Amino acid sequence: MVADLAKAELHCHIEGAASPELVRRVAARHGVDLSGLFDADGAFAWHDFTSFLNAYDRAAAVFRTPEDYRDLAYTYFTSLAAEGAIYGEVFISSDHALASGLSYRDYVEGLAEGIRDAEAETGIIGRMIATGVRHYGPDRILVAAQTVVNEPHPLVTGFGVAGDERMHHPRDFADAFRIAGEAGLGLTVHAGEFGGPESVRDALDHLGVTRIGHGVRAIEDPDLVARLVDEDIVLELCPGSNVALGLYPDIPSHPYARLRDAGVRVTVSSDDPPYFGSSIGAEYGWLADGQGQSRAALAEATRTAIDAAFVDAETRQRLINRLATA
Ligand code: ADE
Ligand code: ZN
Repeated sequence: MVADLAKAELHCHIEGAASPELVRRVAARHGVDLSGLFDADGAFAWHDFTSFLNAYDRAAAVFRTPEDYRDLAYTYFTSLAAEGAIYGEVFISSDHALASGLSYRDYVEGLAEGIRDAEAETGIIGRMIATGVRHYGPDRILVAAQTVVNEPHPLVTGFGVAGDERMHHPRDFADAFRIAGEAGLGLTVHAGEFGGPESVRDALDHLGVTRIGHGVRAIEDPDLVARLVDEDIVLELCPGSNVALGLYPDIPSHPYARLRDAGVRVTVSSDDPPYFGSSIGAEYGWLADGQGQSRAALAEATRTAIDAAFVDAETRQRLINRLATA
């Protein structure tokens, strides 16, 4: 039902998109020891949010050269296109680049080459959102924002914060979001995933975002749901990720339909696909099968993603035209 539907993904971490197979291949280039990273079936080994973040950092550290990152972006964007996506945004992280011994510029250039190669081959359009990592602390987040503003790149069009939402308060990141916003970058933040509704409210109060990564726990507070509708906030929903990380027992329990029915603008993404057994096509399929989302409802999610994408007006119009002919 959804295989031929045009899709768009706003929420995927590029380091979290690396499959075990690609991690093994790149690790072999550099002789990196991977012991303990995989389980007996060859999947990433993790059992809760903290161990997921640790596995994620270890796998990310395998990518060390611009070519490694080019291969990662190329693999991800071509696989997205193969599932019917016409547009994708990936979260990137200058902190992970530095941990791998790469400058921000070399990291971004490597990724951009992969995005351009994928576009040349499949037509998919891609952009990057620079992120700070919440559990690395406010000082590092400010440096991440300064880095992206001081070294602009045409394909880096947004700024955000990912990582462990149980740490720090959004007001601690307000300066980082202010300088990124003043530089014309689109703004999004992870909130309402491992924090409750108050975390979403604090993010809206302090960070000037137009989108929220996850935001699902807003469903616990009707006034906040009304505020999301009033302020036209777009949620980057990742149902498979939320189920895999234990927020909800299964797809039917996920608040996607309830948020949508309340009038919140929702989109569909895969977050860190190989960790969660997910992909953009799987997410659309789960919502169709597990929540009875119609083809028209899922097409509307794609249109919302294009409307909320961090792209210039001309690119947005090109994407809308492509939807019309899809
Ligand atoms: N970084 C990668 N995946 C994440 C998630 N689901 N939540 C917060 N930070 C992340
Ligand atoms: Zn995420």
